[in-house]
Parts: sequence; C-alpha cells; structure tokens
Amino acid sequence: MVVPRVQAAIASAFGEEYRGTDPVVRPSQFADIQINAAMALAKKVGLPPRDAAARIVEALDLDGICTGTEISGPGFINLTFDGTWIEELLNAESPGTRPLPAAEAQRVVVDYSSPNVAKEMHVGHLRTTVVGDSLVKVLEALGDTVIRQNHIGDWGTPFGMLIEHWLEIGEDSPEAALLVDDPNAFYQAARAKFDASATDEDGFATRARLRVVALQGGDAETFAVWQRLVAQSKRYFNAIYSMLGISLTDDHIAGESSYDEHLAQLCQELEDRGIARISDGALCTFPAGFTGRDGEPMPLIIRKSDGGYGYGTTDLATIRYRVRELGANRVLYVVGAPQNMHLRMVMATAREAGWLPDTVEAVHVQIGNVLGEDGKILKSRSGAPVKLMALLEEAVDRARAVIDAGRPELSEAERAVTARQVGIGAVKYADLSTGHDTEYVFDFDRMLALSGNTGPYVQYAAARIRSILRKAGVLERYTGLEFGVSDGGSTAAVISVVEPAERALALHLLEYGATLHKVRETLEPHRLCTYLFELAQLFTSFYDQCPVLKSEDSVRESRLALCALVLRRLSEGLDLLGIETPENM
Ligand code: ARG
Repeated sequence: MVVPRVQAAIASAFGEEYRGTDPVVRPSQFADIQINAAMALAKKVGLPPRDAAARIVEALDLDGICTGTEISGPGFINLTFDGTWIEELLNAESPGTRPLPAAEAQRVVVDYSSPNVAKEMHVGHLRTTVVGDSLVKVLEALGDTVIRQNHIGDWGTPFGMLIEHWLEIGEDSPEAALLVDDPNAFYQAARAKFDASATDEDGFATRARLRVVALQGGDAETFAVWQRLVAQSKRYFNAIYSMLGISLTDDHIAGESSYDEHLAQLCQELEDRGIARISDGALCTFPAGFTGRDGEPMPLIIRKSDGGYGYGTTDLATIRYRVRELGANRVLYVVGAPQNMHLRMVMATAREAGWLPDTVEAVHVQIGNVLGEDGKILKSRSGAPVKLMALLEEAVDRARAVIDAGRPELSEAERAVTARQVGIGAVKYADLSTGHDTEYVFDFDRMLALSGNTGPYVQYAAARIRSILRKAGVLERYTGLEFGVSDGGSTAAVISVVEPAERALALHLLEYGATLHKVRETLEPHRLCTYLFELAQLFTSFYDQCPVLKSEDSVRESRLALCALVLRRLSEGLDLLGIETPENM
C-alpha cells in the first residue's frame, strides 16, 4: 500500500523516468517497514544514497499515515505507521478482492494447457494448465475480461496414422479405449504399425498417408472419424481437468485444426507483401533480430517445400485471430519454455505484418520443465512418460495416508474429501510456488510436507483458523459473509491493532490487493504463494503471542475478527491459485 506512494515520491523528486524503480519493502525491527530504494537510485542520479533517500522522504506524502520517518544505515527509509490508520484500513477491508478501475481493465486472451490429441498430457502440460488457470482467475478477480483458449494439437500428419489404426482395431474395441485411458499406448501402437509397414507399398503406412490427404482434402467420412477421435481425447483431457478442478471446458477449445482454412490465404498474403519469401523451396519469414549461429537470418517456415503448413503457420493465424476477432489487448501464451524461440518469431512476424499492433501486448509466460529426482525430465521407472492420472491419484493416496493417521476421528467421507483437496492442492502449489520459468524436481515428500512453503502448510493454517472460530461459536457468522460485502459492518467485530504480532499481521493483510495487482502485472503466481505462506507464518506467531480464545470481551472479539479476516484472505488466495480450503485437516 505504500509502494505506489514511494513511486510517486521518486517520480516527483527525480522525474517520471524513475517511477518504475521497484522499491523493496520489508519488515524491520526498528519500524513497521523498511524501504530500500535509494541505493539503486543514487547510482543513477549521481547522489550519495542517504541524500537520495532524504529527497524521497521530502516528496513522500504520508500525511495521517506515518508517525515516524527515518533514514537509517546506508540509505534505508524506515516508516512507522499511525496505528489508527492501520485499524481504519483493516476494518474497511472488503472481503472480496478489489476490482480495478474499469479504464484499466483489459481483454486478455490466455492460451494454456493446450495438450495434444491421442497423446498423454505430460507434467509440462500439467504445469501450464495449473499456472494458466491461476493467472486466469487472478485477472478475472481484478476485473479483466479473460478469454481462455485451449490450443490443442488436433491436426497434422500423425492423424492419418491415428485414424487408420482406430478404424482397423474398431472404434469400440478394448484397444480403442486406450485413447481415453492411456493415450500414449494408443499412439505407440499406431506408430509401431506405421514403422513396421514403412516399405510395404500397400501396407498400413501407405494407407495412413492417403488418409492424411483425405482428411486435409475435406473427405466427409474421414472428417467424421477424425471428429470422433478428437472427442475421445477430449474425454481424457476433461477427466484430468476435473480431477484437478480446472476451469477449462470444451467451449474453450480452439485447436490447431480451427485455423486450417486460413493458412493458404495467410501465406499468400505474407508472400505478396514481401514479408515471406521462398528459401530452399520453403516459404519463410525472416523476422528481424533472429540470427543463427552462422550469423545468417533465421527462417520461420510457414509453408514447407512439399506445400504443407506447420506449427508456425497455425500460430500466425492464431495470433491474428486473437487480436482481430477476439479483440485482445493482451495475449498470454502459458507454454513450455523450450517453445520461446518459436513464439518470439511468430510474434515478431505478426508485428511486421501489422496483425499484432504495438497497442497489444503479447507475452510468452514460459513454463519450466518438471524434473524427476535424477534431474532429467520426469519419467516413469520404465522410462516411459509418466501417466498423469496415476500421478495425481498417488498424490491423493499419500495425502489420505497422512490424514488417516492424523485425524482418525473424521468420517470416511470427510477424510476422502480432505485427502483430495490436500493431495491435488499440494501438486498445484508445487507448480505455482516456484518461479514459473524455473525447473523444479517433482518430489511428493516435499510438496506434501506440513512445514515450509507448501500447499498443505497454507491449507492447514486456514483449517486451524476455522477450528478456532468454530470453538468460539462464530464460524458461521464470519464465513457466511458474501464476497464483496464489507465485513466492517454490523456482523463483524471491530479489530484493534495493539500487540506487535497483531500489527505485523495487520500490515501484511493490507498488502493483499497490491500482491494481486503485482501478479497481474508480472504474471507470476508464485508471488501470491509467497504472500499466503507469509500470512500463514505471521498468523502462527500472532496466535502464539496473542491469546484468542482465552482473552476476554472486546479483545477476544477483535482477535476473532482478525482471525476471520486472515481465514478469508487465505481461502480467497488459495482459490485464486485453484486450490481448495479444507473444512478440517
Ligand atoms: N500443443 C503444444 C504442445 O503440446 C502447445 C501449444 C501452445 N500454444 C500455441 N499457441 N502454440 O507443445
């Protein structure tokens, strides 16, 4: 809540160009917070750091907010807030998230999940699904209009082979059921047949090739089989989405196939306008700024020498559609980091063609690999890709074992629900809490741990508060409140902030809105994880230091209301991460 004020002060003291300087704000033992901005700034403006700090303080508008301002050490700015101001803000905190001013709201297209038909969704897809779904929720909570796009891989040469195999084994055969239960096995079977018949003139491979021609040529019967095959894959995707509680539905699917009819025209246009040219028989663009190791301009192939279109062509049609038809002013690609070069070349070409105007921001939200304990891409023991459903089931089973041991008095049904919330929550939190562009090692023990920056730790803090409120008989009163309705009204007790632990907790609560805005700006959900983790920690020290159930009268009321506000923030925050808050844990 002070960051914008500090930035305004920096701008007025040194000029607008310095406003963006991100001040680091952290709790301090000498004041409520310590701001570290002057040191970095001092270098740029050529002043001694303490002098730069003094200029910022002079320009800072803290009327009625601070009781103390002090420059310490090499140029830190220490601020002590007015207790009444903290209390006023806290009691006015609306339980719902604060919407953005409408003028700032954006129309954002978010491409995420985007798995491939007849293939297993791998842990990389899991992560783009989880990170994408969280970003979508945060943006929506802040007032953006979000258009989800699931760019599934449902087109291209392998479909001849897949269709042919499916027809041969029979659409209703047990092997065909693999399409839903074990898509990789299905794919492998088709592939094996294809490879084995490669040299056989009227064998499977030849039929598969003719099938592609029929599919792309619009043969009605082939097209109908393809549609049924894709429908089977959707069943598989939806089973995973439902296990994970992901907000994607069939309505959000806009697969590669949906752009097919535009590709020829698109290539023609780029060629006519001189943006694409033939190189080694293929039609290519050479977007500025991309050079290979040899220093030669790098091509983005948009029509192969055999006349076929590729991934780049579809993505050009896609980006054009997202801006032109969907009216996006921000386009996010929540896609694996290895595709960065591809996406940057697509964006650069689209900019050159005028399909992606400067007013539209396009971002590749790079998703880092998920690794096994050996530091390589996560594989099963046999070396095959991990079956995602089995992995998720294992997470739930492991959580179940912990809950069975810890809470035997809960009913079977309650334990089953909690196990699912905790197991799935742990996997999602692990995906979200590490910077989305960094790799991490998939480790059940670590993600399910009840201590540290984990899903279960944050969920446990929330469940613990529920149990405190339940004991005090006020759970209904506080959790029954509607989103968006101020709980500073008649139902909630007034919070007074007295003890240092209360103060630290209160100040952190006040950073919630700013944290969400930061996630919206940086597209980094791990910031919300860190916020919630710290909130849970600050709650724990508050609860250690300030008796709640054993205190009396207005102090008890105030502390219960503070607990309730923490619970609300924890469960709202988890919800924005796509994680459920257990009733009991
Ligand atoms: N289907 C692709 C894959 O599995 C991801 C698609 C990402 N989105 C896009 N517009 N290229 O790698």
